[in-house]
Amino acid sequence: MSGARRELVVELGARRYPIRIGAGLLADAAHWRDALPGRHALVVSDEHVAPLYLDRVAAGLRNRSFSSLVLPAGEAHKSLDSAAKIFAALAELQASRDACVIALGGGVIGDLAGFAAACWMRGIAFVQMPTTLLAMVDSSVGGKTGVDLPQGKNLVGAFHQPRAVIADTATLATLPDRELRAGFAEVVKYGALGDAEFFAWLEQHADALLARDAEKLAEAISRCCTQKAGIVARDETERGERALLNFGHTFGHALETVCGYGRLLHGEGVAIGMCLAARLSARTGMSADADTVRLRDLLTRFGLPTAIPAGTDADALLAAMRLDKKNASGRLRLILWRGVGRAEIAENVDEAAIRAVLTA
Ligand SMILES: NC(=O)c1ccc[n+]([C@@H]2O[C@H](COP(=O)([O-])OP(=O)(O)OC[C@H]3O[C@@H](n4cnc5c(N)ncnc54)[C@H](O)[C@@H]3O)[C@@H](O)[C@H]2O)c1
Repeated sequence: MSGARRELVVELGARRYPIRIGAGLLADAAHWRDALPGRHALVVSDEHVAPLYLDRVAAGLRNRSFSSLVLPAGEAHKSLDSAAKIFAALAELQASRDACVIALGGGVIGDLAGFAAACWMRGIAFVQMPTTLLAMVDSSVGGKTGVDLPQGKNLVGAFHQPRAVIADTATLATLPDRELRAGFAEVVKYGALGDAEFFAWLEQHADALLARDAEKLAEAISRCCTQKAGIVARDETERGERALLNFGHTFGHALETVCGYGRLLHGEGVAIGMCLAARLSARTGMSADADTVRLRDLLTRFGLPTAIPAGTDADALLAAMRLDKKNASGRLRLILWRGVGRAEIAENVDEAAIRAVLTA
């Protein structure tokens, strides 16, 4: 993958940080070494990513005391057990408060390593090096870190911003097709929630994007990151607008929890969840059916599922949704929409209407 390099900034005052996007960034340490403080660095990666890309990062860490930890891949390992392994590796490295964690991998590694960095000695620096489309457009930006519990996704976590996000788009060449498609769910989300023009651009370029056209992918990543960086700068800890980024996620997380972590990929859960949110919006008169169809058609073009897997228990889904972090005072709070590009927070959503959509 070739093409121009792009740089955006998440404007958070003294904690502002760059998002660098381009092919070949990992091997070019001049683009990220400045973001690493201190003498010690721990690179956290997983068993699929490490054999492919760890060498490139390690080469840039010469003259520094560093070690690496390679964890098993997949959502089932975004756990407190894995966090404990990272703490043990930091202790082994004798990492002090000026040490740094580098997260090299997809959203699972990013969330996990970021969480460990947030906890170690009450917070040390970390750098995100996302290697999946989903992580490049979403999870690596914005400082949400955490782990799953058997009871629900991301129930334990912290807000902890990275020092930099280094998105080497060349790494997408090795990403399995199913993982690439899952990433497009989050890409579509940005158009769906707040940018109708981007949604139309995706409709126009879906085939090129699926064929991994380098320029189009870089443009999509940069447009998503621009939108997310703006939202995070305005609402870092999700007191308002940032909740819109969860369009489809309350349903999606419940599906992931109920179906079993790893069976349904996060992006697949989000794709189904967005369709359910659109159907619920149409049912309550907020949006037109034509918008639901448009969303479903675009997700289908990206090869994503749009309906709940057969046999999924609606009561179990509702129970998982009640544990969602967006709920307040026992009332269900969801992100619904008024049509493409116009998501909004809906308070106190009627459970009967949700159940009807889950069982339709
Ligand atoms: N923090 C946030 O704001 C936020 C936002 C969205 C999603 N998330 C989280 O992100 C996670 C999902 O992330 P994901 O979809 O990246 O999944 P993932 O981290 O599990 O990666 C997907 C798979 O692809 C492999 N892989 C990664 N990069 C590769 C590459 N370049 N080549 C070959 N294989 C590669 C991984 O080993 C893994 O098997 C979920 O836990 C979700 O909750 C967090």
